[in-house]
Amino acid sequence: MSFQFTPDNKSRLDDLVKKYPNKQAALLPALWMAQRQNGYLSLEVQEHIANELGISPVHVHGVVTFYTMFKQKPVGRFHLQLCRTLSCALCGCEHIVAHLKEKYKLKEGEITPDGRFSLELVECLASCGTGPMMQVNEAYFEGLTIEKVDLLMQKLMKE
Ligand code: FES
Repeated sequence: MSFQFTPDNKSRLDDLVKKYPNKQAALLPALWMAQRQNGYLSLEVQEHIANELGISPVHVHGVVTFYTMFKQKPVGRFHLQLCRTLSCALCGCEHIVAHLKEKYKLKEGEITPDGRFSLELVECLASCGTGPMMQVNEAYFEGLTIEKVDLLMQKLMKE
């Protein structure tokens, strides 16, 4: 079945578009809304948004592939995005990554068989002063240590 916004989201999108000087300017919030509804932005979803906003699918795809906040394939119920950029690298993010891979069997770019976790290494998440850090869904976890990661993972495994 092809992607359609829910009636609520469609009405929200219509309201949103009115706040911008042109439809194209509403692209980022439209993509975000679609991702929240669908879980990720398949090519079909991207094409739907392109049609809704009257812009080319190639332009939409360019935006989707530029921002790591937009997902092009399904992610786990808890999507772990670990920052690997300079400040976090200097604070030892590679130890956190290695720990997540070894102890919890997470693989970069993959979802665990139970669908609970997925892991992605991303560039700076603008929390450079509190590295190493990661984003889990929409929440930030900063100043990570192996112990903090274990506590967080235990909590997430129970939810
Ligand atoms: S370098 Fe990791 S948040 Fe900026």
